[in-house]
Amino acid sequence: MSSLENLSHENRTFPPTPAFTAQANAQATLYQEAADDRLAFWARQAELLHWERKWDQVLEWELPNAKWFLGGKLNASYNCLDRHVLEGRGDRVAFHFEGEPGDTRTITYAQMLVEVKKTANALLELGIGAGDRVAIYMPMIPEAAVAMLACARIGAAHSVVFGGFSAEALKSRILDADVTLVITSDGGYRKGSAFPLKPVVDAALAGGDHNVKKVLVVNRTGQAVAWVGGRDIWWHEIVDRQSAEHVAEGFDSEHVLFILYTSGTTAKPKGIFHTTGGYLTQTSFTHRAVFDLKAESDVYWCTADIGWITGHSYVLYGPMINGATQVMYEGTPDSPTKHRLFQLIEKYKVSILYTAPTLIRTWMKWGDEYPADSDLTSLRLLGSVGEPINPEAWMWYREVIGADACPVVDTWWQTETGGLMISPLPGVTATKPGSAMAALPGISAKVVDDEGRDVANGQGGYLVLTEPWPAMLRGVWGEPERYRETYWSRFPGKYFAGDGAKLDDDGAIWLLGRVDDVMNISGHRISTTEVESSLVSHINVAEAAVVGANDAVTGQAIVAFVILRGGIPSVGGEELIADLKAHVTQEIGAIARPKQILVVAELPKTRSGKIMRRLLRDVAEHRTVGDSTTLADPNIMKLIGEGLQSSKSED
Ligand code: WTA
Repeated sequence: MSSLENLSHENRTFPPTPAFTAQANAQATLYQEAADDRLAFWARQAELLHWERKWDQVLEWELPNAKWFLGGKLNASYNCLDRHVLEGRGDRVAFHFEGEPGDTRTITYAQMLVEVKKTANALLELGIGAGDRVAIYMPMIPEAAVAMLACARIGAAHSVVFGGFSAEALKSRILDADVTLVITSDGGYRKGSAFPLKPVVDAALAGGDHNVKKVLVVNRTGQAVAWVGGRDIWWHEIVDRQSAEHVAEGFDSEHVLFILYTSGTTAKPKGIFHTTGGYLTQTSFTHRAVFDLKAESDVYWCTADIGWITGHSYVLYGPMINGATQVMYEGTPDSPTKHRLFQLIEKYKVSILYTAPTLIRTWMKWGDEYPADSDLTSLRLLGSVGEPINPEAWMWYREVIGADACPVVDTWWQTETGGLMISPLPGVTATKPGSAMAALPGISAKVVDDEGRDVANGQGGYLVLTEPWPAMLRGVWGEPERYRETYWSRFPGKYFAGDGAKLDDDGAIWLLGRVDDVMNISGHRISTTEVESSLVSHINVAEAAVVGANDAVTGQAIVAFVILRGGIPSVGGEELIADLKAHVTQEIGAIARPKQILVVAELPKTRSGKIMRRLLRDVAEHRTVGDSTTLADPNIMKLIGEGLQSSKSED
């Protein structure tokens, strides 16, 4: 657990200003309204969407399976686009796109609609239809959003795979979801140069044990690419010649909208899937209520990549349903200089910023002079997501980025929850630095002890959700038992989030980090088992144990302990360590690359053979090693500790 454990006595509070409250979308009465009749509350939010056919029943709940807005029919793409155009908002900017090299595009809702219709027609020409799965493996460019909305428009489920994942990771996701079309680009731009993506897709598809018939390729960088005749098609060659007419059909409220893979406690990522009506209801409601969006005047920027749930719910669906004007940026925060993001805030007059603690801490490390060089006075609300935010980072965000004048909303949620769950309401809640505060209206969250009993204020335990919510995952793709087992069996009848949490003396909720074998690296979930399996698949490795060690910038950093196979000298040469790191990058992707790998002779195990990660974490975090009396060989920790000090760590 993180260092937040000791912070239940935080007593600084930041109430909203009367001026903010007066204009806020969400008022305090929402909590009461939802408490009085939760289903009627959600039904009122659903009514703000456009339905081809209204639902007959709000919720059917057969634990753990929920259906929301049964019998209703709607189209996600229609709600994000057609509606705005038909109601006279077509000229509003949907995206101010800024490419890494500095190229820009301004795309209105009307233009976006034309692109999505053409792309939908292209997908139909390629034989894709309702119920099919399409993998999207792209950089952060407008075509990624267009591709997702085109899939949604024709009822095909998209499965977006973050562009940083390896060919192996992409392949396993393609196979698991039985994907028939992949949409990619030749590459994208990062840190001043073009990187390739299409070759990764080629590698993922080599071997042919999949059902992918076509690969649609956006020409983003003009790199030379290998071409598979009959399979590969340039986006511009097929999309540009399509008709700009396409009538969106309403799909069942429970029609699968997308699959998104996330790490669990085992080596195999879980295909979390979401359906249409409930997901769109909750993402659009929370986006309006928590970010206080005024669509006519705000410029909203969520810095998440579309490859993660935050990009799905708070770049694509929530904001677009609400008609937001957004900034979309392709590159990294430090390219060409550390001023980049601040300059973009000034250039586009961003008023709502939603980002992750890891970026906030990186900015803090760089120093206040970078934000000071740009005019950030357009900002009026700041959001945080992805991992616990330390009170110091929260204060810095508020004071330096927000000039002490913007509400800060720390939002807790997960790929599985689909939308925000625990967060302040900016015009209502007196916030405390580092706390996500309370469950949103219509959401029921509790902190319970080992036995599933509610803990008292001032106590810690596990975060659970006690009532179904509209945007909840509908399952793990192809693995119904895993769904029940992972989320609904630890505390019968309750959803187990996998997070530790604490109620402070006032009952505010503090999230404390994962309590399972999932690490959180820069806000990205990576399973220890996944990295261990990858290390063990290296020819020189016999055994591996991986822990997430506290890290000042990335939250956690991956530290691996490996035992080499017999016949290989037991000291890890730098070359071997580099090779192991490259191997993990190859197998999973750069985000899973261990920061430090230590070659050890033994791993600390109990007499029953269980690896004691707690002790390894002590070593990796340079703490005195805790109680090791249950170890089969108590001497081991001493040896490991000495070895770690003499090994080098990357920064
Ligand atoms: C963590 C990201 C503390 C948590 C939206 C959760 C957070 C996991 C917060 C989900 C927060 C996310 N405070 N922890 N505000 N937001 N987390 O699926 O451990 O990528 O279980 O979804 O991130 O990560 P995921």
